[in-house]
Amino acid sequence: MLGIPVRYLLKHPRAVTELTADPLDTWTQVRESYLGGQESRIPVFPYEVDPDWERQLHALIGAEWPCTFASDFAELWAAVMAELESQGIRPGPESFLHWNDGDTGFIRAISCLIRHLNLRYVVETGVAHGVTSRFILEALSRGGGGHLWSIDVPPVQSVWQKQVGMAVGPSLRKQWTYIKGTSRLRLPELLGKLGEVDLFVHDSLHTERNVRFEMDQAWRVLRPGSAVVVDDIDANWGFHSFTHALSDQHSFVCEAEPVRPDFRRVNSKGMFGIALKTGGSVPRAVGATPLRAVR
Ligand SMILES: C[S@@+](CC[C@H](N)C(=O)[O-])C[C@H]1O[C@@H](n2cnc3c(N)ncnc32)[C@H](O)[C@@H]1O
Ligand SMILES: [Zn+2]
Repeated sequence: MLGIPVRYLLKHPRAVTELTADPLDTWTQVRESYLGGQESRIPVFPYEVDPDWERQLHALIGAEWPCTFASDFAELWAAVMAELESQGIRPGPESFLHWNDGDTGFIRAISCLIRHLNLRYVVETGVAHGVTSRFILEALSRGGGGHLWSIDVPPVQSVWQKQVGMAVGPSLRKQWTYIKGTSRLRLPELLGKLGEVDLFVHDSLHTERNVRFEMDQAWRVLRPGSAVVVDDIDANWGFHSFTHALSDQHSFVCEAEPVRPDFRRVNSKGMFGIALKTGGSVPRAVGATPLRAVR
């Protein structure tokens, strides 16, 4: 057992700094990197989903409903899934070690926010196959352009390392910066450098400490009128405690749409959360009429 942390520290020398700063999360990281499948989804934290979140989100930001990008998204989704399958990947739950690729609902929400709100500068944590990365980059390039910075701890096994970011084709890579390392170490320095971001996506280590850390960091530099999207919120109470402590936000708890069941979950498809930073007024979609009433 002692060999595991030693091997991890040899491969990730910067983790020595983390081990002192945050021993708990660093240990979780070490355990997950080597033992796999340890991240618990049981007990599920009983959030109540907003069954109509998608229509409500569009109404809130003044975007047309049904969504004008719906068929564009559906076509791209089918194409990306087929591309991954042709590369020998079975997309969905537990497709990258014990990690899940982003589900359809989570990714559609991110794509809609980028396209309707014309967001440009996006930061995410957790790459794996790069399904979220691919769709973020596609949405940016189909909109007004922009850039994505992705912070990620790659697996230690080279067979898995080769699969990191494979959903992102060469033509989109010039708008993409892949930053190797944990969010604990890399996120503060990146956000400090950027100063302001339009969208933050969490899909890395789903411990409450890490979710809160990332959300706290991102919220400080998030432009009002933009959003944070957090995957797997039902793994802990982090999303709840964060959003309930703030007044300048409007949040949604959304049901995931996995391409096949995630058997680690009981009676649940999983959940993701969206927190819009209102900053006094609600963000509005490009071309939306001025706001009259918000629920
Ligand atoms: C759920 S997967 C990401 C899935 C990806 N968003 C997609 O849709 O294909 C989580 C990834 O985050 C990485 N990771 C785990 N802990 C991390 C941390 N503390 N900081 C950054 N990345 C981390 C894992 O190695 C894994 O590659
Ligand atoms: Zn939409």
